[in-house]
Amino acid sequence: MAEQSPAIRVRDLTRDYHRPRRSLLRASPPVHALRGVSFDVAPGERFGIVGESGCGKSTLLRLVSGLDRATSGSIEIEGREITHLSTRRLGFLRERLQLIFQDPMSSLDPRMRVADIIAEPMVGLRHPISPGRVEELLQAVGLSPEAATRFPHQFSGGQRQRISIARALSVKPQILVADEPVSALDVSVRAQVLNLIADLVDELALTLVFVSHDLSVVRHVCDRVAVMNEGQIVEMGPVDEVYENPQHPYTRELIAAVPTLDKALAGSGAADLAAPTGADQP
Ligand SMILES: Nc1ncnc2c1ncn2[C@@H]1O[C@H](COP(=O)(O)OP(=O)(O)OP(=O)(O)O)[C@@H](O)[C@H]1O
Ligand SMILES: [Mg+2]
Repeated sequence: MAEQSPAIRVRDLTRDYHRPRRSLLRASPPVHALRGVSFDVAPGERFGIVGESGCGKSTLLRLVSGLDRATSGSIEIEGREITHLSTRRLGFLRERLQLIFQDPMSSLDPRMRVADIIAEPMVGLRHPISPGRVEELLQAVGLSPEAATRFPHQFSGGQRQRISIARALSVKPQILVADEPVSALDVSVRAQVLNLIADLVDELALTLVFVSHDLSVVRHVCDRVAVMNEGQIVEMGPVDEVYENPQHPYTRELIAAVPTLDKALAGSGAADLAAPTGADQP
């Protein structure tokens, strides 16, 4: 029997950015945002990526999502090499992989109604949008059906992130990629949005790639984690193991530096964790 291919397979990935020349005589040195990154993510796995600002997390996600091009190395999504595909042939990725970004305000078009925002990724796909699909998605993320006719500014940060999640799920992707999805949110709603993501990933059996600078956040939703520093993975393993027994000095620093979500969660009590996901509605 053929082995199931990984949902994501990354090998020796590099990405250099060339900055504009500072002067005619002196070229600026390139930024080596990724310096040979390799990992696999199994179908259904929740894979975290942590590291401090500038270590290359977003660059890695952009490459994996086909939004940017590698300098060298390979990326396979569900067994299909994407590094050399033309933009047009990358179209299939849209139905397989969707993204959630850090700032739900700047990633939602303020002039569009929520129903259109959520339906947008479905436009142009082979399957017509089924009636009731938007309401179904709103319900799945804990928003009321009336949200459909409103605009993004009429919602809180946590609610806007719920709208982004509904949009990402609209095309029924297999892979969800989240870039610091709760970092811009109030501490009080972080746990709720994290739990929503974890529950939906579970329910829909999605593969999750989740980026954060905070290992305690990653620990809350992921099975396995890669720790990145200066464009490289310095440590990778089951998230509890890495968290409780970090091997690399950089990982230890990272754990010591960040105030942990655990404390916030302990403060809010276990009852909040189990609260219905719509709890941050007015
Ligand atoms: N379009 C670009 N042009 C030039 N340099 C870039 C570009 N995008 C990223 N970089 C550089 O590449 C490096 C990695 O950036 P990246 O945004 O991937 O980091 P990050 O880990 O996501 O950081 P943060 O936690 O702040 O989001 C940084 O040095 C950044 O300045
Ligand atoms: Mg980033």
